Amino acid sequence: MLSGAKLRKRQRAGARVGTRGWESMNAHWWQTAVIYQIYPRSFQDGDGDGVGDLRGIMRRLPHLVELGVDALWLSPIFRSPMADFGYDVADYTAIDPLFGTLDDFDALAHAAHALGLKIILDLVPNHTSDQHPWFIESRASRDNPKRDWYIWRDGAADGGPPNNWQSDFGGSAWQRDDATGQYYYHAFLSAQPDLNWRKADVRAAIYDAMRFWMRRGVDGFRVDVIWHLIKDAEFRDNPPNPDFRPDRPSHEAVLPLYTTDRPEVHDIIKEMRAVTDEFPERLLIGEIYLPIERLMAYYGRDLDGLHLPFNFALISAPWNARGLATLIGEYEKALPPGGWPNWVLGNHDRPRITSRAGADQAGVAAMLLLTLRGTPTIYYGDEIGMEQVPIAREQVRDPLERNVPGIGVGRDGCRTPMQWEEAPNAGFSISDPWLPLDDAHPMRNVAVQREDKASIYNLYRRLIALRRAHRALNSGTYRSVAADGDLLLFIREYEHERMLVALNLGDEPAQVSFPGHPLTGRLVLSTFGDRTGEPLDGDVALRGNEGAIFALSGDSHVP
Ligand code: NOJ
Repeated sequence: MLSGAKLRKRQRAGARVGTRGWESMNAHWWQTAVIYQIYPRSFQDGDGDGVGDLRGIMRRLPHLVELGVDALWLSPIFRSPMADFGYDVADYTAIDPLFGTLDDFDALAHAAHALGLKIILDLVPNHTSDQHPWFIESRASRDNPKRDWYIWRDGAADGGPPNNWQSDFGGSAWQRDDATGQYYYHAFLSAQPDLNWRKADVRAAIYDAMRFWMRRGVDGFRVDVIWHLIKDAEFRDNPPNPDFRPDRPSHEAVLPLYTTDRPEVHDIIKEMRAVTDEFPERLLIGEIYLPIERLMAYYGRDLDGLHLPFNFALISAPWNARGLATLIGEYEKALPPGGWPNWVLGNHDRPRITSRAGADQAGVAAMLLLTLRGTPTIYYGDEIGMEQVPIAREQVRDPLERNVPGIGVGRDGCRTPMQWEEAPNAGFSISDPWLPLDDAHPMRNVAVQREDKASIYNLYRRLIALRRAHRALNSGTYRSVAADGDLLLFIREYEHERMLVALNLGDEPAQVSFPGHPLTGRLVLSTFGDRTGEPLDGDVALRGNEGAIFALSGDSHVP
């Protein structure tokens, strides 16, 4: 049933072809790839402690092959006290024992590569754990050699914090440290002190960590909160946010003008990219939540920045045809020449797409993600339509929800264990999992959906296979055709191949006609799994909540 390494390699070779001249000659693996994000705590428990680990991930690699993705990105697996579940690193070159050992990592990387899968690690350079030896030294005395590896300031005249900078995880971003009477800056938890990226030694130390992993065969990094790296050199107060709503987290009361997206950040990213480029064909992705026009600068002035500044526009998009068409158009238009697009529907910080758009729209969302131009990233579990799981107060594990409770920012609900089969704990673990499983797991799991032709899992598989097989989909141009009522239509085109993607964002049947320009072709994939091969002759007609891909015949003229 599963394709072997040889088959994968052949598939991959076939997929590595782009559109126009420069692309077809030079396309990088990550341009035609589909990336899959794994939250390691929740993918597969290999040692029976209720928390996922590297051996578990290794056991489940065949799933990624069956699904058809090209690369896996692992949320952090480094040594950590887990105050923020690995986003608080205490050693950048060690695996946390909870996840396994360096040998386990090498075995995983080896096995992944043997299956033709790339492996991407999560680099967290903005801050460390307060248990990192660098910080332990830094806080020891004002004249410690590592003192300025972090951001230390005297308090204000009244003894309070140095300025009004706020932590994303609640309260002032400044923590007074008794040992020296100064404050240190932390954009997130006080257990996550920010590194001082103005310091060359800090930069060198992180770059060495990158080299350490690339030498071990890692194919790239997703860089955590990269737009946070540099803060204002003058420590100016952030301005008030005139649009602040009291039901939102308190840090939104000020605009992060002096704490994020500083001009100097681009010099740092350029350095990071140069380190990445010391190794062939490595990928640099950055986590950035910014409006589209500001996001684009992260490609670098001469495309010497990030290969892929994550595009999260779909995560906060209103789920309607016009809104989506506008957003896609704006993103496409804003891209710098040669900048490669990318799309994300969900991640470990945001509510799941199935819950945001509604279960009936999950297939349409999948079709959108996998037919847009650019590299898609799939969040684990979305391929089986996993939903946001309700978390009772006593089950809360997320430090953000603990600090800022009750306003819906908690992230546990999108981090619950992967649902594999109808078995105790859905096959995730032999022990009670660290977060509750979705009650729906006996029905909504990989094994059950594999057998159901019309399942979302099989839809994801077909979409990925189709994307791999058709240059129009993996490398072709994008053209918006219509956003009419609930219908969203666009065309992907590569040389003589044209694919029309038609998505019905509503639950009523919908139809669109092009008077004087009847479309001809055939339907290649419906989100419902049927209709394959049906001729297209004239109008495009969809059932409620249906998405369909049509191969257009050569003489179809689309106005
Ligand atoms: C962004 C990560 O995605 C999130 O999970 C984490 O809490 C913060 N960065 C802090 O590292």
